[in-house]
Amino acid sequence: MGSGADWPQPGPGAEPLALFFGGCCVDRILIRGGRPLHGDIPIRGAKNAGLPLMTAGLLTDERLVLSNVPLLADLDTMGDLLAQHGIAVERVGNEGRVLSLGGRITSTLAPYDIVRKMRASILVLGPLLARCREAKVSLPGGCAIGARPVDLHLKGLEQMGAEIRLEGGYVHAAVPQGLRGADILFPFVSVGATENLLMAASLAQGRTVLSNAAREPEISDLADCLVAMGARIEGIGTDQLTIEGVAALHGAEHPIVPDRIETGTYACAAGIAGGEVRLLGARLDHMAALAVALAEAGVEVSEVEGGLAVRRLNGLHGTDMKTEPYPGFPTDMQAQFMSLMCVAEGAAMITETIFENRFMHAPELSRMGARINVHGSSAIVRGVRSLQGAPVMATDLRASVSLVLAGLAARGETMVNRVYHLDRGYEAVERKLGACGADIERV
Ligand code: UD1
Repeated sequence: MGSGADWPQPGPGAEPLALFFGGCCVDRILIRGGRPLHGDIPIRGAKNAGLPLMTAGLLTDERLVLSNVPLLADLDTMGDLLAQHGIAVERVGNEGRVLSLGGRITSTLAPYDIVRKMRASILVLGPLLARCREAKVSLPGGCAIGARPVDLHLKGLEQMGAEIRLEGGYVHAAVPQGLRGADILFPFVSVGATENLLMAASLAQGRTVLSNAAREPEISDLADCLVAMGARIEGIGTDQLTIEGVAALHGAEHPIVPDRIETGTYACAAGIAGGEVRLLGARLDHMAALAVALAEAGVEVSEVEGGLAVRRLNGLHGTDMKTEPYPGFPTDMQAQFMSLMCVAEGAAMITETIFENRFMHAPELSRMGARINVHGSSAIVRGVRSLQGAPVMATDLRASVSLVLAGLAARGETMVNRVYHLDRGYEAVERKLGACGADIERV
């Protein structure tokens, strides 16, 4: 491995990532509910695309330039992890919305101190193995929404020839002869495992076929970027990806796909608060299942120049929904949709099929006057006329934002504590909602 010392230094105006991002863990958000939303909200690049795209920077010594980058704490964490591996990550120009990654890998260790902050850190494993034939990666932490093992990632890499042992909380992986292509059938759909193996296979010897692969837009975005870097991938956007390994990848420029979860979250905000917002840069084709559920619930989403318009029609109606892998209803929108259903007329049955413990927002919403009964993987929500503000707290990212949405609809003051979860995945949520007329501030 090279030392990385000969890598060009950042130009004038470039700053380390960490100086720019990063919310404060003691911040809270105060909302005084009852105001409709009117205005424009810019939708940024997707966090869940940006993270794997950043790890693709490990696949080449050349420069990878990502644009439409969201300013989020999770990307900051990924920047720290890549720096540990020897890859410099700098924001350049355009308000920091362009990231330039480059350098040679100097360490194959992904330490617990960084990995524990974010589960997506496991995505360095495939690229490190492909480039360096060895890696030692801490087992990940991340949102507390279930057990979330990484067995599919590890089994797939084993099928490609890697020897893997778990010791002291770390994955020790080695592949002395280099990774070989393999036929890998996932027993169930995993976004992260598909991404890890897609990157590993791009530099493996021979052909890899990933069957029952995840086909989230963020995976297609990663695949498109890999193709721009010289990878040979067929079946992009389907559940079967065929990858012919190549000897080396090169640098590329790639814009990050708009965030469909940020889009859906602000669509639910307009639904719960009333009014009409324009979501600039948003794409309807990536949120079709959510748009159908919103329409049934009484919230219209339509394409307009520059993005999407969202408006609440008359009343909200209880609408059943079940989370599924893409193109089904996303689990990352379940909490926000539940908030909407809390103030809808009638009942809604919400079923979570992806994660086994993802209703932690339900008791907090109940503290605001919502009527929710959780039975295993389903929750029955009986709509109430209005919610009441309360101090609330959430233990994961999407749950936190669901409480902000509930606060928009509640009478009185809602104080959302522990907003560092929110800052991991939402950029300037209080400014975006405040600009549309919400009474919301960070305290
Ligand atoms: C990604 C998203 C996350 C989203 C999730 C499902 C990122 C950074 N995060 O997470 O926001 O909620 O997809 O859309 O993109 N599983 C295993 N073994 C494995 C891998 C996964 O049992 O090796 C299980 C998980 O515990 C979960 C299910 O499979 O129950 C789906 O997980 P997966 O699709 O892998 O989610 P992530 O990639 O972690």
